[in-house]
Amino acid sequence: MSKLPGNAGVSVLGDKSLEFYRDPVSFCRQRIEKHHSRVFQCRLLNRPTAFICSVQGMRELLCEKSNLFLKDPTDLMTNMYGDTIVTTNGEEACLLRLSLTSLFTGSCLESSTDYIDSVSDRCLKDLSNSGEPVCAYSAFKRLGTELVLGLFLNVRAEEQPELYQEIAQLCTQHWHGLISAPVNVKVPLWSSGFSTALDARDKLMDIIKDKLENDKHGFVGSLASLPLPDSSSASQHLLLFISALIPKALSSLLTSFTLALSGNEQMRQQALEEPDFLHRVLLEVQRLWPPFIGGRRLADQDATLAGFLVPKNHGVIYVSHSVHRDPEVFHEPDSFLPERWSGRNAGQEHLLCSFGNGPRGCIGTKLTDVFLKEACMYLLKHYDWCLDPPSQDLEYKWLPVSRPANTPTISFTRLDPTRSDRSKTS
Ligand code: HEM
Repeated sequence: MSKLPGNAGVSVLGDKSLEFYRDPVSFCRQRIEKHHSRVFQCRLLNRPTAFICSVQGMRELLCEKSNLFLKDPTDLMTNMYGDTIVTTNGEEACLLRLSLTSLFTGSCLESSTDYIDSVSDRCLKDLSNSGEPVCAYSAFKRLGTELVLGLFLNVRAEEQPELYQEIAQLCTQHWHGLISAPVNVKVPLWSSGFSTALDARDKLMDIIKDKLENDKHGFVGSLASLPLPDSSSASQHLLLFISALIPKALSSLLTSFTLALSGNEQMRQQALEEPDFLHRVLLEVQRLWPPFIGGRRLADQDATLAGFLVPKNHGVIYVSHSVHRDPEVFHEPDSFLPERWSGRNAGQEHLLCSFGNGPRGCIGTKLTDVFLKEACMYLLKHYDWCLDPPSQDLEYKWLPVSRPANTPTISFTRLDPTRSDRSKTS
């Protein structure tokens, strides 16, 4: 068992949070090179923290040894969303997962598919109308927002445009508080953005509680009737589910998909004709451009990860971007190669962590899969697309949710429905 490479530094002065939040990818890359190790330590959020950038380390942390590493109940997520499953541990977390998972699987998921169809059609049908290049990220974020507000709150943009706008705006304000706080490490939770966010949260909670009391159908109705630990649990979880976090993550993946296939007609055609190939394309999209940088835990006792000692009370962060580019598992790790998922990496989806992994992995993966495939198929069936202008700076920013820092513009051209090749599937 070896000591973690690197230095956890002295309290406050040795803290590297700002450097990490500015550019987490370079932060990790530099240290991996310096220490010749994909596991190392630094001071993050003023706590000695092990950084996990290897597939083996991630699997041990999230799967085999997950019981030794806890969610942090004082995490920023608790301040923004209240007590939810995200920051809960032990038996309570197990029971919550059991209850909530039923909302995102089986018949509940099946009953969502018509709405997913209709919202994809409504939000994506006009991409080529202006004849000008469009900012696809914004269009996809609108789609994600319509999806979560319609599905989880029964508020549909076309039926209640004013209420929809009000809630969407409150979600944005709430979100800005979440992202304004972590950089103020030395004066935690103090910023004007943060107090605006708390006001927005209170207004959202009023709307949510009203819905839970009076709306008996759909997701809200099912959530209200679940056995949950206390009376505020349903409203706090609903706040989490409708927050800007999920639309941004969906938009991130759709944007990366669009960019990866932009100008590549052959790959688009294959993705349209072969569901397995589309699946492999989407695996490769989430491998290279995971929406979230990773997740954080606290060591509940001394433990080892990938052969290194992680002392009790150390923070641990898995960095999905770096895990996904571990050359031990993914050859040519920086290349977009969907075929790796039918070759060398066939059957290895469990080595990804875009949606977490193990017993605390994402409970929304099935819903996300259905939604992404529907939206991607819509794009493939109805459009050709390319970057416009062809040369743009596509450098990604990775926090709070990944996307190209300068929003790319894309020209969509409607496919001629009479064209023999693609018309078969239209
Ligand atoms: C592109 C979409 C999404 C991405 C990339 C994503 C990603 C993630 C990740 C990385 C985690 C694990 C965090 C950790 O290890 O600390 C997670 C957990 C979670 N996700 Fe998602 N998620 C997505 C969509 C959704 C949706 C649609 C829902 C439900 C509405 C959802 C609900 C949750 C919940 C409740 C947890 C916490 C589970 C637990 O702590 O036991 N996610 N997600």
